[in-house]
Amino acid sequence: MDPADVARKITDKTKMIVPVHIGGYPVDMDPIMKLAREHDILVLEDAAHAFGAMYKGKKIGTIGDFAAFSMHEVKNITSFGEGGIATTNVPGFASEMKRARFLGLDFTCPIKDWLYNITPIKGKYAPFVPGNASTTEIQGLGLTLQIARNEEIIAERKRAAAYLTKRFAENDAILSQDLGNEDIKPTFHLYLLQIDPEKAGGDVQVLKKKLEERGVTQIAHFGPLYRFKIVEDMGYNPDEIAKTCPNCEEVFYKRFTHLPLYGLSDEQLKYMADAVLASVAEMQEGK
Ligand SMILES: Cc1ncc(COP(=O)(O)O)c(C=O)c1O
Repeated sequence: MDPADVARKITDKTKMIVPVHIGGYPVDMDPIMKLAREHDILVLEDAAHAFGAMYKGKKIGTIGDFAAFSMHEVKNITSFGEGGIATTNVPGFASEMKRARFLGLDFTCPIKDWLYNITPIKGKYAPFVPGNASTTEIQGLGLTLQIARNEEIIAERKRAAAYLTKRFAENDAILSQDLGNEDIKPTFHLYLLQIDPEKAGGDVQVLKKKLEERGVTQIAHFGPLYRFKIVEDMGYNPDEIAKTCPNCEEVFYKRFTHLPLYGLSDEQLKYMADAVLASVAEMQEGK
C-alpha cells in the first residue's frame, strides 16, 4: 500500500483504510495511521497472512483499530480448515467483539427470569445484530498447538525465502523478496516474486506461463478488487477506477507472482529457483 496514494484517495465518504500485509510482509503502517488519525478514519489490518509478523517492534495486528488473521488451511498456521482471529484497539470495544462472536448475548441486562439479553453491537458504524461465528473445541486445541509452533514455521519459511533470494541475485531482472530487518519481520507466507518487465523482456504474464509449463505452482490469486463483477454491479466502472490505480495495475498485471515456501525439499526449492531463472533467461533471449 502506497501511503501517498492513500492520501490522494481519501474523500469525506472514506470510513476505513484496509492495508493488506500481503504474503505476510508488513505494510508501512506509520504513515497510514497518521493519515487515518488526521482524517478520523478507522484502520483494519488485513493480517490474514501475517500472524507473527513485526513492524517497528510491534506485532502486526496490534497497530490498526482492528485486525483480522486467517487460520484457513492454506495459511502458515491453521485451525483445521477454517478459522481466524479478530483483534481491536478501540477502547471499550473488545467486549463488544466478543459478544459479536455469538448472537450478541448480553449478560449485563438479562430479560425477566432469564440469563441474558440479546442486544445490538454498539460502535461507530453500528448497531448491528451478529450471527453465530462459533468455532469448535477441537479447532481451538489445534490452533493452540499450531501457535506454539509459529516461530519455528516462520524460521523454516525464512530459510526457503533466503535461498530463493540468494539464487535470484544472479539476474537483475528479478527483484527478490526483501527478507526484512530489525524493524520489519515478515512471516514469509508467500515468496513475493517481482520482475522488472523491461529488463526481463516481458511481463509477469509471460513468466507465469513459462513457470506453469515447468510445473511450478504459483499463488497469484489476489486480483484487483475493482475488477470483480460485484463492484461493477454496484455502479462503478472498473476501467475508470483502474486509471486511478496505476500501482495496482502495474504490480498485478506486469510484475508480481507468488511462490510457495513451505514443506518443500531442497531439491524442490532448487527446481523452483532453476525454473524461474531459466524462464527469465528465455524471456531475455526473446524466446
Ligand atoms: C489477503 C487475504 N485476506 C483475507 C482472507 C480471508 O481469510 P479467511 O478465508 O480466513 O476468511 C484471505 C484468505 O485467503 C487472504 O488471503
